[in-house]
Amino acid sequence: MKLAKRLDVVKPSPTLAITAKAREMKSKGIDVVGFGAGEPDFDTPSMIKDAAKKAIDAGFTKYTPTNGIVELREAIAARIQQEHRVSYKASEVLVSCGGKHALYNLFQALLNDGDEVVIFTPYWVSYADMVRVAGGVPVLVETSMDTGFDPSPEQIRKAIGPKTRAVIVNSPSNPTGAMLSRRTLETVISCVKGTETLIVSDDIYDKLVYRGKFENVLDLDPSLQGQVALVNGASKTFSMTGWRIGWTAGPQALISAMQKLQDNSTSNPASISQKAALGALTAPGVGDEVEKMRRTFDERRKHIVGRLNAIDGVRCFDPGGSFYAFPYVGELLKRTAPGASAPLGTDDKLIDLLLEKHLVAAVPGSAFGAPGYMRLSFATSMEQIDKGCDRIAEMAKSLK
Ligand SMILES: Cc1ncc(COP(=O)(O)O)c(C=O)c1O
Repeated sequence: MKLAKRLDVVKPSPTLAITAKAREMKSKGIDVVGFGAGEPDFDTPSMIKDAAKKAIDAGFTKYTPTNGIVELREAIAARIQQEHRVSYKASEVLVSCGGKHALYNLFQALLNDGDEVVIFTPYWVSYADMVRVAGGVPVLVETSMDTGFDPSPEQIRKAIGPKTRAVIVNSPSNPTGAMLSRRTLETVISCVKGTETLIVSDDIYDKLVYRGKFENVLDLDPSLQGQVALVNGASKTFSMTGWRIGWTAGPQALISAMQKLQDNSTSNPASISQKAALGALTAPGVGDEVEKMRRTFDERRKHIVGRLNAIDGVRCFDPGGSFYAFPYVGELLKRTAPGASAPLGTDDKLIDLLLEKHLVAAVPGSAFGAPGYMRLSFATSMEQIDKGCDRIAEMAKSLK
């Protein structure tokens, strides 16, 4: 069938592909340890479910305004005000079907053909593809574990030019868990201030921070508000991935353009999910649940980083946030698997070997623009983490 050319520039999501493969193996009764999925393994807190049940019982099951119910947009604005000391009107907030949808709408609304978007690598897979499908050009700024995945000021200055329409700031980051330094945030601010360039601050992991305090560009310079889009959502913070609620707070012109697209595509996010998200932001006790999840992730972080660093040929960065470990496995790629005639060579091959022979699902670093690494989500139990690390150690030992 003849299909739209515009999709030729995007690839299927490797994260979703690995997750699907691992799920299929599990459904056949194979005991796979899944480090692939980017979602918390906790149930949604009960107060949030109660808010949704109440909405169903009250018949809150119809269309809502496209941009979301006003109470939810007000609650989002109130939270931003409380956390970052910047004010947004409810009309400057758009609720979408997940953070991914928010970002998709944003790039569709912002970019013209050839417009550049600066992205720090390793980067979340969808950024580059969403930019490309909107006609934009991703400009990648490479970082590595040795600099804490933090770009230098020179790299940032070099990447931002007259064609730059946006810079994406994602800290803590998927896939590395790195927090960008204050120097980096300040450099981005100084490069774009007073220009037509937007800072897209993807704060989706802002509540999953293990060292220091979360900070975005508006904490450093509130006067930049007209040039910033804050993207966030319920998925990671409240363990609500399936409810599909994300949002953007930003300049009115951008929000209205995004809303126009949403009017003509999905319309409103599910009415019941919106009430659940309102419960997440306002119901008493939710904050304690979020903190409990954060502490559990923190224990797992320490454990998995220690276990990975104990494996010969693996060097693991200690993430400041999110729920991903992103070890460097370049040394292992120089080694040869049992029965093979040549070294592994690529992280894709290592990931295949790990899944097929050792029953561990992880995502290759090359999927995030960082060959030589792999991403392990530690949103799984300590028992699974131990079992998976035992298997990775076995795999490493089997290589010659
Ligand atoms: C960096 C980043 N931004 C945004 C999202 C979007 O999440 P959701 O669409 O579930 O809200 C994700 C999810 O994996 C992510 O990792």
